[in-house]
Amino acid sequence: MFTDQQSFEIVVKHIKKFPETLVVLGSGWSKVLDGAKIEKEIGYKELFGVSATVPGHEGRLVIAKIKGKRVAFMAGRFHTYEGYTSRQATTPIRVFAKAGMKKLVLTAACGALNEKFKVGDFVILSDVITLFLALDNPLLGPTFIDVSEVFDKALREKAVSTATKFKIPFHEGTYVYYHGPNFETPADKMALRFLGADVVGMSIVPEVLVARSLKVDILGLSFVTNLAFVKHDHLEVLAEANKASGKMVKMLTGLLT
Ligand code: HPA
Repeated sequence: MFTDQQSFEIVVKHIKKFPETLVVLGSGWSKVLDGAKIEKEIGYKELFGVSATVPGHEGRLVIAKIKGKRVAFMAGRFHTYEGYTSRQATTPIRVFAKAGMKKLVLTAACGALNEKFKVGDFVILSDVITLFLALDNPLLGPTFIDVSEVFDKALREKAVSTATKFKIPFHEGTYVYYHGPNFETPADKMALRFLGADVVGMSIVPEVLVARSLKVDILGLSFVTNLAFVKHDHLEVLAEANKASGKMVKMLTGLLT
């Protein structure tokens, strides 16, 4: 994988003015690009020296206009379960923040731990549990950043009003990061629920820490693909996420424009 500086130089060579908003598209969320007017696409291999390889995750940066609003999209992301350190997995966040990104919308699939949440519900994240990054924190040095409010209040309110407007079923809740690549054991899930998590997933949190350290405003949006306590597999996760792509497009379009 390239260094931050190498990737930064490639970005600025291709993109004169980096958009203010970046959306990281998780499993199933890429459909939003179908209705977008694409200005530029750069594959991750060219940009970062490696491509994202997990089924359901493409790997390209897309600069596009959605209803006239110019936005950057990451179609696919790097995950720690692919063998990257959380610092490597968050290279795009540091690079794009340096290039001019000020707002970050993180989307991802999740499993529901809260028994009130159902498959197909959206979750507007109110907080994250960072504990499981203790041995692989993406931040370096004595930065001691404040994380008392990781998600931006105005963006959260806009997400709530957009979901309400489009009658998209949603909850607000706490996301816990689980390294993977295996799903959690029943005992893990009970432990994570006991810690206060409503949903569990394998991304978002490293990106949140890095973006907060760079003073980027963040919105976390997750989609419940499975009930964590019920047996499930990756294909089912992708199938559920794809089923809801219409709602995801509405949600993102409403949020961004
Ligand atoms: N656990 C972890 N990550 C996930 C899940 C899950 O149940 N569903 C989608 N991503």
